[in-house]
Formats: sequence, structure tokens, C-alpha cells
Amino acid sequence: MPHREAAVVAFASGKGGTGKSFLTTSLAIALHRRGRRVVVVDCDFGLANAHLLFGVKPVYTMRNVLDGGVTTEQSLTATPHGPMLLAGGSGIASLCELDAGHMALVARSMQWLARSFDVVLIDSPAGLAPQALLMALAATHVVVVTNPEIAALTDAYALIKCLSRQPGCPELHLAVNRVLEPGLGLLTYERLAAVSKQFSGCSLHYVGEIAEDPAVTHRRLGQEPLLVSHPTCRTSLAIQRMLATMQQQMAGLEPIVCTGGGIDQRMTAQLARW
Ligand SMILES: Nc1ncnc2c1ncn2[C@@H]1O[C@H](COP(=O)(O)OP(=O)(O)O)[C@@H](O)[C@H]1O
Ligand SMILES: [Mg+2]
Repeated sequence: MPHREAAVVAFASGKGGTGKSFLTTSLAIALHRRGRRVVVVDCDFGLANAHLLFGVKPVYTMRNVLDGGVTTEQSLTATPHGPMLLAGGSGIASLCELDAGHMALVARSMQWLARSFDVVLIDSPAGLAPQALLMALAATHVVVVTNPEIAALTDAYALIKCLSRQPGCPELHLAVNRVLEPGLGLLTYERLAAVSKQFSGCSLHYVGEIAEDPAVTHRRLGQEPLLVSHPTCRTSLAIQRMLATMQQQMAGLEPIVCTGGGIDQRMTAQLARW
């Protein structure tokens, strides 16, 4: 039966701390303001922090869904600025420690979310663990988040190489965060895109750069997201531009009509290769 499914975008990185959670939560708020029903899934279980960036204290997390007794719907937390959140919960095993049975439960949960929202944004764990790759491969688009420095770039390339080798790899996009001078993002993209094309035969799309901004680093617990408190500062404007570019590159981020399998089948297919 044909059914409607959300655009699913995974934010991934090779190295930790590149700004995935900052970008995921900011873009979610920007999308909500454009009238979309959006949910953020915090899959960085061990280091979950999307709830802190949204300023909420979740009652339930993905852990409760995996333990049973709580439905995906019941596990959602409404955030003050519009998006819904399926929190990751901290102090629990990381996504990367889940076994195939648990990953099948995650797949079921993702299916419900994809059928209930317009856009699903996944805040993925950093690194190349099979579970992290699986989350990214099940998305309709992957945004690899990197910083311009060499360690982050090397790890971004390792991730791109791993993802692009898998059958059914979604379109790959690149966001460059914490850029110290304007234009460095594009330069970084051009280098990485050339290497990816030459050695992995894969194309990368550039979604833009965000400057290094002390206002992001120094945000304190309980403070509103930058996009809410300073909607016209240069970082908030850069987020808006990034979203506009993503919409151009990702078919408007509109829900898609699935004639065959949806996200659960994409995840199950990836699990079968595991
Ligand atoms: N553009 C930026 N300018 C300054 N600091 C940033 C920027 N983006 C992210 N940060 C900071 O970098 C750290 C890591 O960001 P986070 O979004 O948690 O990364 P990840 O989710 O990839 O681990 C946080 O302390 C965050 O405040
Ligand atoms: Mg994070």
C-alpha cells in the first residue's frame, strides 16, 4: 500500500563534538517555524544532549521504548519552541552497544515517527560503528557535519567512504561548522568533495558553513536556543540559509510517497547485511 513518509535527515560525523546536536536542534526549530511537523530523534544515547539544547527534561527516552511498556508516541517530549523530541537519555548504553533485536525495535519506532511527522531529524552518534552507520543509511539524506580542522576532516572522509560503499546509501551532504573565516567552509567542501569523488566515486552536496561563534559555546543551561533569543544574529541567519539550501537539495524536505518499503524496511535490509 502506498503511504506517506517523512523526509528523514541524519546528522552524522566521524569525530565527536563537530556540532551535530547544535545543528539538528536549531534546524528543527527553523523547520517548525516554516510550518512543518518535525521530530528530533536523539540517537547519541550515551552522550544524549538534545534535550538540554531544547531546554526540556524528558520523562521518557528511547530507553523506555526499547525496554517495552512505553509506546513511541508516549515517549515523545514537546519542546517549548515547537519540535517534538524523542530523547536519548544519558547514562544508558550507547546506540553502538545495541544488538540486532534492539535495532529492530528502533526501526519500528522510526517507522511510526516517519508516518506521523513531516520531517524526522536524527542526531546520530559520531563514529563508524555499524549501528551509527545503519541509522544514517536508513535516512533519506545524510548531512555529514565537520569542522575545518584536519582531524575532523580525516574522520569525515572515513565516514563518507564507509557510507558510500554500502548499497542503498542515501545522498550525502556536507555542513562545515565552526569556521574561523568566511569562505573556509566552501574551501573545505571542495577539498573533501574532490577526495571523495577520486577515491570513493561519491558525490557530496554542500549545504553551507556556520562561523565559530562564542554565543554558541557559552550558552548556559536553561538559556533559550540562539535561533529564538537572537533570530537575526549571523549564526541564526546562517542556519536559515542552510535550511533553505537543504530544502533545495532535498526535494523541499517534503514527505515522500512510498510505494514499497519505508524506513523500517530500509533498516531491516541494512540489519540483514550486518
Ligand atoms: N558554530 C559554533 N561556534 C562555537 N561553538 C560551537 C559551534 N557549534 C557547536 N559549538 C560547540 O561545540 C560543542 C559541541 O557541539 P555539539 O552540537 O554538542 O556537537 P556534537 O553533537 O557533534 O557532539 C558544544 O560545546 C557547542 O556549544
Ligand atoms: Mg551531540
